Amino acid sequence: MSEPSSYIHGSSPDGQRRLSLLNDLLNESCLRELNLVEGEKVLDLGSGLGQFTRRMAQKVGGNGQVVGIERDRDQIAQAKRLANIAGQSVLVEFRQGDVFELPLGESEWGSFDVAHARFLLEHVPRPELVIAEMVRSVRPGGRVFVADDDHDNFRPWPEPAGFDALWRAYVRSYERAGNDPYVGRRLVSLLHGAGLTAIRNSCVFFGGSAGDERFEAVADNIIGTLGGAKDAILSDESLDEESFRIGMEGLESWKADPSAALWYTVCCAEGTSPS
Ligand SMILES: C[S@@+](CC[C@H](N)C(=O)[O-])C[C@H]1O[C@@H](n2cnc3c(N)ncnc32)[C@H](O)[C@@H]1O
Repeated sequence: MSEPSSYIHGSSPDGQRRLSLLNDLLNESCLRELNLVEGEKVLDLGSGLGQFTRRMAQKVGGNGQVVGIERDRDQIAQAKRLANIAGQSVLVEFRQGDVFELPLGESEWGSFDVAHARFLLEHVPRPELVIAEMVRSVRPGGRVFVADDDHDNFRPWPEPAGFDALWRAYVRSYERAGNDPYVGRRLVSLLHGAGLTAIRNSCVFFGGSAGDERFEAVADNIIGTLGGAKDAILSDESLDEESFRIGMEGLESWKADPSAALWYTVCCAEGTSPS
């Protein structure tokens, strides 16, 4: 059954630029964790702009197949544009639909080797219902792989002025939308609750320190994400406009600090459908 769900980052051009940047920074590490095999048939839930979906398609090759499911028509349109520009429009089939009610044909249920979702579960209420759909979509012995945030895993240091209040208000914006900002820590128990076996977990590092080649992009990603979520953050009455400004300036000063570091990991887990 479909569930109302709210994606707080939206699909504005700025939101889409940040999602692209995030893909550039994370895709190769995530691909390593996912361990796809040539010829596999993959379902990607909440495929967004489709960069990672296409990367998965390259990995499984011409004998494999990748289908991306995305609810937002603007994200799908942009995903198709990006695929065209890259000359990869035939790599992936992007299908419009809701992950609570996967738009699969009768013969497709139970046919995928891998069901994958990255940064989706933090944006939905009742993630266990999405996992149940993923389990139904894979064949016996197929894998369900999820990667998501736990907003406790995010630690910039030295602590930027005003950061703590800003971050807490940001995290509450997830809770107000009915979603779980700490879903990353629950991934294994969600897979276990869905009856999967051979469960394993790991994480992908998404941090950096001043002077390394990724740091500026990683810092810009979080500054842009918080700036883009300004309206959602300010609707939490614990933070006023002035405190928001102080927190954002604190992050800009932190980014310029030669001793700055960001400790941040993305939680990953996978389980196998019983044969
Ligand atoms: C943070 S983006 C992640 C995109 C992609 N998985 C990635 O890692 O680059 C989350 C995506 O999930 C989509 N989404 C959220 N709720 C959804 C739902 N109920 N059904 C389908 N897509 C959904 C959003 O529109 C958004 O494009």
